[in-house]
Amino acid sequence: MRRSGDGSFTLYSEAYKEHYHSCREGAFSEALIKHIDPAIRYGHLLGRDRVRALDICFGLGYNTLVFIWRLRQLGFTGLIEVISPELDTTLLERLRLLPYPKALSRYLGMIIAVSEGRAYEKEGVRVEVIAGDAAQRVPALTGCFDAIFQDPFSPRKNPELWDAHFFGALHRLLSDRGVLTTYSQAKGVRRTMRETGFVLAEHPFDPAGAFRPGTLGFKTLPEGLACLPD
Ligand SMILES: C[S@@+](CC[C@H](N)C(=O)[O-])C[C@H]1O[C@@H](n2cnc3c(N)ncnc32)[C@H](O)[C@@H]1O
Repeated sequence: MRRSGDGSFTLYSEAYKEHYHSCREGAFSEALIKHIDPAIRYGHLLGRDRVRALDICFGLGYNTLVFIWRLRQLGFTGLIEVISPELDTTLLERLRLLPYPKALSRYLGMIIAVSEGRAYEKEGVRVEVIAGDAAQRVPALTGCFDAIFQDPFSPRKNPELWDAHFFGALHRLLSDRGVLTTYSQAKGVRRTMRETGFVLAEHPFDPAGAFRPGTLGFKTLPEGLACLPD
């Protein structure tokens, strides 16, 4: 276990030889700044009655936890549903032993449920972790998602979750006004996203440049964002 830049902890994967989060930026901050805030803003999630998110992959659960915490903090009272594939069931069983930031403590019942292999359902929040290979499970999903957090390990370590087949499935699952967020700004990833139908943008969140911007993907670009040139 390692304390990351903002004080929240992350882990190192021996199997993939990568940390689960950016150690410099911090696990909590990375989730909030690269995924959750852009998804809420550009997916116009606060104006909806219910939001449905696809979190790829669950890992330590930061994206899902911060998503729920932030929506409620911003006064969203509608239903929140999150579906999240995760291959490593041994990791899921360990999650209940890990120290999460105090801000998220209200939602840690969700981590207990996931550790025990159960779906979590409470106070208008439903979270279901699907144990298995996302490359197989995600293309079989139905319905639409307002937000997709594309957060596997790097394309070099997790190529099956960055190819055209997988992005094609994500594009099909994204709702018309939905948003896909990813930390990757790799040229190859952006090319594949474009080839599978995404319109790309960057979230201008950090003029000081402390955080790398990542990439946002849409079916239709929302107002206020410029299309990222090829
Ligand atoms: C960078 S971590 C995700 C961090 C997570 N989003 C969070 O907020 O804590 C990548 C995760 O992808 C999982 N993973 C890797 N390949 C997978 C696959 N083919 N299917 C499902 N999960 C996979 C790993 O086990 C790991 O938990």
